[in-house]
Amino acid sequence: MPSLNQKLFAWFTENTEERRDKILGETKQHLFARANGTVAEIGMGTGSNMQYYPDGVKVIAVEPNEAMERYILENAAELGIEIDIRRSSAEELPLDDESVDTVITTHVLCSVADVQQSLREILRVLKPEGQYLFLEHVAAEQGTTLRVMQNIVRRLHAAAFNGCQCNREIGGVNMKNAGFESVAYRKKNLGGYLSHIKPHIIGAATK
Ligand SMILES: C[S@@+](CC[C@H](N)C(=O)[O-])C[C@H]1O[C@@H](n2cnc3c(N)ncnc32)[C@H](O)[C@@H]1O
Repeated sequence: MPSLNQKLFAWFTENTEERRDKILGETKQHLFARANGTVAEIGMGTGSNMQYYPDGVKVIAVEPNEAMERYILENAAELGIEIDIRRSSAEELPLDDESVDTVITTHVLCSVADVQQSLREILRVLKPEGQYLFLEHVAAEQGTTLRVMQNIVRRLHAAAFNGCQCNREIGGVNMKNAGFESVAYRKKNLGGYLSHIKPHIIGAATK
């Protein structure tokens, strides 16, 4: 049974989707156009990214919060997508080695317990030519007002948003250290919904 916190977070995620789409939709559309074959989305949440997937992909959702599942199923049914949901976490992906063409995460690396282990797992499950597509919010530059703000509110933010670390430093170096062959990404402020989580990294890492 999901906890009350898990249920509330799932409800919140579903009911703020429209707002996020306004800010991130175009970027996601562009990024996910590159998805192909078997796609594993880690930390799928309620499944709002599926609307941006190209036709014909096979979708696996890895999501630890059981309360998200009914929303994933509803969203997948609306889009006519057949979905395979696996209740698990990024640190221990329930997927075979080299079994997936594309891995996607959006706003997930901020919440995982172990970023490096999660990235190593993503690398493990990707096929040799596989790609990891990501859109993640990250810490603002040290010394900026935004970073000071993030440092101040981080505990409150984590408590309110399911452990999300708003000042977590994540970048290409994490992916390189996990063993990805190449990483190409850009940093962009995509703001609006919660103003202190504007800086994002958007890109792809290949095996
Ligand atoms: C902020 S939500 C983002 C949901 C969705 N990716 C989106 O962009 O709408 C973070 C998601 O990561 C999931 N999550 C948290 N810890 C995780 C972990 N260790 N492994 C995989 N997913 C995790 C949460 O359950 C939640 O669905």
